[in-house]
Amino acid sequence: MTPSLTILGIETSCDETAAAVVRRHADGRAEALSSVVASQVEAHKPFGGVVPEIAARAHVEIVDAIAGQAMAEAGVGFEDLDGVAATAGPGLVGGVMVGLSFGKAVALARGLPLVAVNHLEGHAVSARLGAEADYPFLLLLVSGGHCQLLAVEGVGRMRRLGSTIDDAAGEAFDKVAKALGLGYPGGPALEALAERGDPARFPLPRALLGRKDCDFSFSGLKTAAARLAAAEVRTDRDRADLAASVQAAIARQLAERSDRAMAAYVQDHGGRRLFVVAGGVAANRTVRRVLEETAAARGFAFLAPPLKYCTDNAAMIALAGAERLAAGLASPLDAAARPRWPLDEASALADPTHKPGRKGAKA
Ligand code: KG4
Ligand code: ZN
Repeated sequence: MTPSLTILGIETSCDETAAAVVRRHADGRAEALSSVVASQVEAHKPFGGVVPEIAARAHVEIVDAIAGQAMAEAGVGFEDLDGVAATAGPGLVGGVMVGLSFGKAVALARGLPLVAVNHLEGHAVSARLGAEADYPFLLLLVSGGHCQLLAVEGVGRMRRLGSTIDDAAGEAFDKVAKALGLGYPGGPALEALAERGDPARFPLPRALLGRKDCDFSFSGLKTAAARLAAAEVRTDRDRADLAASVQAAIARQLAERSDRAMAAYVQDHGGRRLFVVAGGVAANRTVRRVLEETAAARGFAFLAPPLKYCTDNAAMIALAGAERLAAGLASPLDAAARPRWPLDEASALADPTHKPGRKGAKA
């Protein structure tokens, strides 16, 4: 049995500077001793989205203070740590380099092993911060940059069952929110507005209906919603109804594809039926409810991370690092920052749903 491991995690891949200390007990249980998240939302608000240069500079300014706060809140010193985990991608490369360099500096100065963590692997293990979730499980990862279904077999061992062919679900929430004048970040604001709305008011297109795979598409929905926002939305009632209709349409598509993925998954995994949803969009209560119903209908147990571990945080990075260290998978000190880094590299190379850009397959 691996001894208990105490890991400092650093996350800087987007607009959150985060640090956390997580202890992975010998029996595999995870415990977050601290989790500090400093949001840059105010700095990006005037621009309606994340500005990479502003993000990178803001990370540089506070990453050491945030890491110090996480250590203090956890009540640990550097001598208590067994390793350092930092997000090495995918994400905005300037920010990733800040956090990864910080992690390397701590590792070098203190003689600790470094783990360069895939941000998406962090989301994949995040539900284990709130409950025990043994491998294997079926994962729906829904965030601002990603939307994919994966069979997670073990630490770093994943097989992609489906992914978005255009926008991510969080991106759809953000763009529709923008069209409704809700500002950035849009997901939580759209959810609040939708509470007062009628989800059946506006019919919205259903994507990829004829297909039998587990891929997603949100661009048609986004365009239709933007058109409705411009042409038919006049009153507060209209705005709430459109928000509710869009939220319901996104939740329905997530549920339909997850349902198909569950059917495929049970063929390989038989009785072990656990469905996990993670990523920022997993914070949405309608999405959670609809997915929980879908899982129940297929005989799957349902698990979603506690709300604070749905959106970006460093506890999930520290835990992914701890699991890798326990499996003997430390990284070299010259590990590179990777702006693009698919979780299931084999599937992404063989069938890039996101066609390879200049730098290779994105998701
Ligand atoms: O996981 P995350 O913090 O960052 C990425 O790795 O992308 O996800 C952020 C995304 C944003 O698009 C945000 O609008 C969405 O998650 N989000 C939500 C909610 N909270 C965050 N979408 C819908 N409802 C929410 N309550
Ligand atoms: Zn994320």
